[in-house]
Amino acid sequence: MSKRIEVKDLNVYYGKFKAVEDVSLTIEPRTVTAFIGPSGCGKSTFLRTLNRMHEVIPGARVEGEVMIDGKNLYDADVDPVLVRRQVGMVFQRPNPFPTMSIADNVLAGVKLNNNKLSKSDAEHLVEKSLKGANLWKEVKDRLNLPGSGLSGGQQQRLCIARAIAVSPEVILMDEPCSALDPISTLAIEDLIEELKAKYTIVIVTHNMQQASRVSDKTAFFNIAGTGEPGKLIEFDDTTTIFENPHVQATEDYISGRFG
Ligand SMILES: Nc1ncnc2c1ncn2[C@@H]1O[C@H](COP(=O)(O)OP(=O)(O)OP(=O)(O)O)[C@@H](O)[C@H]1O
Ligand SMILES: [Mg+2]
Repeated sequence: MSKRIEVKDLNVYYGKFKAVEDVSLTIEPRTVTAFIGPSGCGKSTFLRTLNRMHEVIPGARVEGEVMIDGKNLYDADVDPVLVRRQVGMVFQRPNPFPTMSIADNVLAGVKLNNNKLSKSDAEHLVEKSLKGANLWKEVKDRLNLPGSGLSGGQQQRLCIARAIAVSPEVILMDEPCSALDPISTLAIEDLIEELKAKYTIVIVTHNMQQASRVSDKTAFFNIAGTGEPGKLIEFDDTTTIFENPHVQATEDYISGRFG
């Protein structure tokens, strides 16, 4: 299920602009890793290279390797569609398909991959995924109503249910709580804690408390200035990053001196 991600010498470009430079890091299975750093330092860009979402942007390209359990995602024989099934993604704004029912939203990714799901298998998967996302109790009596009728926090959990329905090994989350109130945020954080038992999770966050609450490891990215590439400055146990960072820039960032 859960997989190790090893990134080696990764450079990420938008056309001629190098947005992220020379990142190497290893993410262990069944851990939560937080990416932190100031706006524009390349957190989202780097995150998207972990499931080949980066390359859907015209002119965008990647140099280097992203190994998932020893296999480079960027090898010529790798199908990006399968990669995105293995490595799921949850975005900043909850993005359920508004006119689709709650149940169909959960199944949206699965149906792309497998159209022949029987009715009972589908029902079972909807229940299991919604339970996995801690949303089942709230929606079990309205599975056929549109996903847009849910609160923001519920919609975000619906997107997590959709992500886990395809049985990914890794889940990438880009500021999944930034549009949510504190209670929904804590619900998502609790869920991340539970999901960690099965999945490898990477979360981008601007919320330092959130990074220290949910993650085992933290990666701090920074940029030297406008037009410069983002770089990985420090990557370590979350407690080390927040209590005893080795690099001055990390210390300055987490103590709120810039960014
Ligand atoms: N589609 C794109 N085309 C060209 N440049 C882009 C594109 N997306 C991002 N960039 C640039 O790449 C750099 C990194 O952006 P990215 O969105 O990865 O930063 P971020 O760390 O996620 O920032 P934030 O915290 O604001 O979300 C920025 O200079 C940004 O302007
Ligand atoms: Mg971003």
